[in-house]
Amino acid sequence: VFSLVFSQNHQMEPCELSANTVIAHPRALTDKITLIRDAGPSKFQVIADFDATLTRYRVNGLRRQTSHGLLQQGNAYYDAKRQALYDHYHPLEISPVIPIDEKTKLMEEWWSKTHELLIEGGLTYDAIKKSVANSSIAFREGVTELFEFLEKKEIPVLIFSAGLADVIEEVLRQNLDRTFKNVKIVSNRMVFNDDGQLVSFKGNLIHVLNKNEHALDMAAPLHDRLGVDIGEEDEENVNMKERRNVLLMGDHLGDLRMSDGLDYETRISIGFLNDNIEKSLESYRESFDLVYLNDAPMWGALELVSRLFSTEA
Ligand code: TMP
Repeated sequence: VFSLVFSQNHQMEPCELSANTVIAHPRALTDKITLIRDAGPSKFQVIADFDATLTRYRVNGLRRQTSHGLLQQGNAYYDAKRQALYDHYHPLEISPVIPIDEKTKLMEEWWSKTHELLIEGGLTYDAIKKSVANSSIAFREGVTELFEFLEKKEIPVLIFSAGLADVIEEVLRQNLDRTFKNVKIVSNRMVFNDDGQLVSFKGNLIHVLNKNEHALDMAAPLHDRLGVDIGEEDEENVNMKERRNVLLMGDHLGDLRMSDGLDYETRISIGFLNDNIEKSLESYRESFDLVYLNDAPMWGALELVSRLFSTEA
């Protein structure tokens, strides 16, 4: 059970907020809600990061696995080599002192080497299925309900990740009760041969630091523009640029840039602050409209979109 965030007349009621919800500027948020509600669901889209945003940060007290982290190639030698790369590059990824251009090169190096190892080690789709089945990855409670609500309102959800599209898709398949035709994934997508073995990756490499550069250049259908396959092209892809109101969800301040490619009118941002709360809360509360703490479920986001587009509204 979660506390009500909005009253019936859509005003913020801070006194009713759950202890896990932080809103620095309730009035600004209320104004955004009004603007987005008035424009209607056809002008709205959701852009979400995957790891630790849609999925939980901790499961059974242990740090969550990412789409990369859960992957077991079925070949201990290659798994160990990828782990060694992680041990070397992850500290560089999170280092605050490496200049951005230098770090970008390092991330390109890391992603290229990992992708090469996945190909060289003969990753199969079957191994992805098994890895996901054996993993501890879990969606936040309420993700299915959120997707269902958005699907009913024909609101697209774009999952944006520097991870692996095929793994994310398999996580969705195995962990949600059903598939959602309004949910698209923009991430690194694999090409398999007839024997089900990975042979290459499609399009441009998406790593943590160029994820936002690639973000949503909606001037053309995404798969043309980015060289990334986001599934069947449909009217929706082309119409995304017309959806100028956005709900953005992420777990890093950098995720706020996922909407860079969109000339948005009104954006509501939700930040999941999972760790280092004391150190990071100030910057999160000033940067995101809503901050959820302590690995909160998705109920707050569901309530927000329900308030935006409930049939009674
Ligand atoms: P994202 O899911 O926030 O877009 O970022 C992907 C994460 O994947 C990033 O934090 C680093 C991690 N990663 C691995 O764990 N192993 C790898 O081999 C690579 C290339 C990335």
